[in-house]
Amino acid sequence: MSLYKEIVELAKRRGFFWPSYEIYGGVGGLYDLGPLGALLKQRIMEKWRKWFIQKHQHMVVEIETPVIMPSKVLEASGHVESFTDPIVECTNCHRMFRADHVVEDAVGIKTEGLTPEQLTRIIREKNIRCPACGGELGEVRVFNLLFQTQIGPYKGNVGYLRPEAAQGMFVAFKRVYESMRGRLPLGIGQIGRVARNEISPRQGMIRLREFTIMEVEFFFDPEEDYNHMIQGMEGERLRILSAKDRMEGREEPREYTLREALEQGVIIHPLLGYWMVIARKFVEELGVPYENQFFEEKLPEERAHYASQTFDQLVKVERWGWVEVSGHAYRGDYDLSRHMKFSGQDLTVFKPYPEPRTVRRKRIVANKQAIGRTFKSKAPRILEELSRMEPGRVEEALGENGYIEVAGERLTREHVHVEVVEEKVAGKRFIPHVVEPSFGAERLVYVALEYAYRKREGRTVLSLPRDIAPFQVAVFPLVSNVEGIVREARRLRDLLVDAGFYVFYDESGAIGRRYARADEVGIPVSVTVDHQTLEDGTVTLRDRDTWRQVRLPATRVVEAVERFVWGGAELEELGEPVEG
Ligand code: GLY
Repeated sequence: MSLYKEIVELAKRRGFFWPSYEIYGGVGGLYDLGPLGALLKQRIMEKWRKWFIQKHQHMVVEIETPVIMPSKVLEASGHVESFTDPIVECTNCHRMFRADHVVEDAVGIKTEGLTPEQLTRIIREKNIRCPACGGELGEVRVFNLLFQTQIGPYKGNVGYLRPEAAQGMFVAFKRVYESMRGRLPLGIGQIGRVARNEISPRQGMIRLREFTIMEVEFFFDPEEDYNHMIQGMEGERLRILSAKDRMEGREEPREYTLREALEQGVIIHPLLGYWMVIARKFVEELGVPYENQFFEEKLPEERAHYASQTFDQLVKVERWGWVEVSGHAYRGDYDLSRHMKFSGQDLTVFKPYPEPRTVRRKRIVANKQAIGRTFKSKAPRILEELSRMEPGRVEEALGENGYIEVAGERLTREHVHVEVVEEKVAGKRFIPHVVEPSFGAERLVYVALEYAYRKREGRTVLSLPRDIAPFQVAVFPLVSNVEGIVREARRLRDLLVDAGFYVFYDESGAIGRRYARADEVGIPVSVTVDHQTLEDGTVTLRDRDTWRQVRLPATRVVEAVERFVWGGAELEELGEPVEG
């Protein structure tokens, strides 16, 4: 059985995930998370929060905005127009396919950036047929991936389910900025559900029509130097396959330090690189080693409509090769500018200079009396037009011709001239730029499971990083027919529950079988109460990964489990080794 199939089988049997609506035949791209999957996802979200919010709490805040969006927001963001994939229908069986995937699968060429017409031409030239029935394929067209709905009972009131959390954060930017006392840089983070009406999702938990996104929009002043933010991390390594390398046919990433990637222009902004390093560390903590991840720069034609540079963070998985777990986009001022335009609201920020600056500025000075004398009733219109003119243009025309034409009349230096004035300026007004790290949570659930999956002596062990395991500790009475043993085991279970742990408790069956069941769902440590406990008050702790055991007083169990699960302690630091 392939690794993928083994994980899917385990996921269904033990309750990590399964296709939604199974009893009705299921719906592509929709998955349930079971009791263990929901816990695992919670832990992954908590870890994301730790890296992206809590460690950055001096400048990143988390908000929550609605899933339902009025049409206007997504018109402004460009999604109504551009959030599309090419689709093709079989004229025989009427199944629909992603046209680019059909072409890629059939003739093995890259199709990113090709227009529907170009894809149709390739389908015709190469005689590509329906992958399901062999029938003739129709014309390729574009399909918008937004799920449309109606807000309230009003027919024309179109709404959409959000395809990214980002837009809620752009729209709320001004409020958050003001509530944070107007400081930049400012990160706004959000974890929430999003929906994308994928054409024919076939990659299990990797491509979903509804999933949880975890993203930060990091707003900053494009003119400020942020090199201080990467101090101490310039030597951090990133594996990157740049767009330039890809265009030259290279397929292997190169290794750069963050400093090198910035100096060589591979990453266009230090803050983009900053979050890529954080992303690499976060994914490493989910169990994916450095060498099994890299960042692939998107080619211009592959980038989303809002981005001027994008990297996908790719992770290697058995079934699909390299899959994207996060995207890192330089969105510039695209989103805020568009929302300014569409809403008519001012989303600029004002940044005071440390000291007011003196700037020299050109100004048009109109001699109203002279204009009135010469042009009589036309004077008001001339003055009005003059007030809207560029001083530089007026100066140039006067210099070149000795006059400037305004409202069809010639004005000379007698009527108008340009002077230079000095002004004190307290600060500048601008639209912040944005870099965005964005993760899909369910993909990470699958990736963490795959990287944790091991076989040991024919048994499955899920070696999840301890701090993301759904249950952190198991408690077992060695036997279920000795009252003192069961009583003590239940007491320890309650103590651990009160200490905040998720505790897996099981009284029945052979102890070896219970250990195996605990290993299979990744419980890092088991506490066993046995006959010796009744004599000397000690219990055993067993390590999921090494199967070694130590003995320690029951009074120290909570502290020992805390050190083992959260502190990464070795088992041997926590008690006396048990022989055998
Ligand atoms: N906000 C990033 C994305 O939609 O992929």
